[in-house]
Amino acid sequence: MSVKASAPSNSWPAAGRPSLIVVDDEVPVLRLIERLANKSGFDVMTCSSGSDALRLLARKPADLAMIDLRMPDVNGLELLRQIRRAVPGCEVILMTGHASVESAVEAIKLGAREFLTKPFDFDRLRKLLSSIREELGRRAQVVALESAVARQLEFCGMLGRSPAMQEVFSLIQRLAPHAKAVLLSGETGTGKELAARAFHEAGPRKAKPFITVNCSAVVATLFESELFGHVRGAFTGAVEAKSGLFEAAQGGTLFLDEIGELPLAVQAKLLRTIEFGEVQRVGSLQTRRVDVTIIAATNRDLRVEVAAGRFRGDLFYRLNVVEIELPPLRDRREDIPYLTAAFMGDCAQRMRKPLTGMTAVAERLLLTASWGGNVRELKNVVERACMLAEGNLITERDIEASLGPAPATGQTAQGRAFSPALSSVERGHIVDVLRQVSGNRMAAAKILGISRRALYRRLERHGIADIS
Ligand SMILES: Nc1ncnc2c1ncn2[C@@H]1O[C@H](COP(=O)(O)OP(=O)(O)OP(=O)(O)O)[C@@H](O)[C@H]1O
Ligand SMILES: [Mg+2]
Repeated sequence: MSVKASAPSNSWPAAGRPSLIVVDDEVPVLRLIERLANKSGFDVMTCSSGSDALRLLARKPADLAMIDLRMPDVNGLELLRQIRRAVPGCEVILMTGHASVESAVEAIKLGAREFLTKPFDFDRLRKLLSSIREELGRRAQVVALESAVARQLEFCGMLGRSPAMQEVFSLIQRLAPHAKAVLLSGETGTGKELAARAFHEAGPRKAKPFITVNCSAVVATLFESELFGHVRGAFTGAVEAKSGLFEAAQGGTLFLDEIGELPLAVQAKLLRTIEFGEVQRVGSLQTRRVDVTIIAATNRDLRVEVAAGRFRGDLFYRLNVVEIELPPLRDRREDIPYLTAAFMGDCAQRMRKPLTGMTAVAERLLLTASWGGNVRELKNVVERACMLAEGNLITERDIEASLGPAPATGQTAQGRAFSPALSSVERGHIVDVLRQVSGNRMAAAKILGISRRALYRRLERHGIADIS
């Protein structure tokens, strides 16, 4: 027997009309709404009690529920609560003939979309139904629509619709043909490595090598020889002459990630290479010409490092002639839906899940989360939510479970930033990821996008013991 995974279906709403369930103990109200909603493009089910509605919804989930507040058995607020739990993809509108401010507030807090008073204002009701219908259609296809927009706005693998990211793309495009040394700064997970690759891709060295050196992963004593090469016998163990990464990157780009970790002695040599375009292998007096663009990245504030004497001022000023700062995700929240849709689309395809969108509440959660780990964290959260999702939509439950507990430092649930120290965000993120993979360091390093050695260094630096 073969089981065929269904391809992501983007056919809604073409495949059918969205469904509405009306729950009211007054039959004339049921008939009235049925007629109106039918005209607005909904398939309508009617129920005269809350318990019937729950039974019906268990068999046939609806996209929208219109519920009377006062009913003899289950009251409207209780029904709302149960629907949010059992059918999170279902939007709820409450209706009442005896509006009270308290119950309206309570309903909205519980996640109701609207609170309508009877007798109905037909015009308003029609508009509301058609706007919900449109929105349902959009949300059901959010993956298809928004990831298409995201892809249209893609720049060398980077997505971003916000003015801040468009400015970054434009800077990279304008500078890539000319710059020989570039500094990329920004918090962890903002896309520095991606930007470095984009820089390479957008420039004239595209067909030449792009070599990455993670400065936090190289053993300090081997740094010089790794970068500049050595001659035979230059030090114990140097049995053969070896060219360094600068020579390997000839004509292309050398990406020095986490430049803040580079030992001071090597910094001096790097500065000479940038200024004169030549390298000297360890143990040799001879210099060799190299034509390499250097892109350095850091998530530390190098000005602070310079002030503390840990980073050479002259190298910093040489690098920051061309500095591009990747903005944190919390400052460009308008990118969240597009990034989410693109990541969801990729996951749906990879995991062969028929995911087409997410619930309104889930969307709001993503828009307001604090995102201390920036795009990397968003990508991980979306990926976990995709794994957890059961139907066509990612629900708020999937997102809540994937977001994990709020960080001790960072932001409020509403996402008001108070700028935690970068290192505490990094520490929290590492611990979080380690917990997700039950302490498996190899897996954690992979998710974090760093080498295992780089992870060990960070565990040591942050004093993180075994986590399982
Ligand atoms: N603009 C973007 N569009 C699409 N994906 C992005 C974007 N920015 C970052 N990402 C994704 O987020 C993850 C982290 O990005 P990247 O490794 O470039 O961040 P970083 O700034 O180098 O982080 P760190 O400082 O921790 O090394 C990657 O999976 C990357 O593909
Ligand atoms: Mg990086």
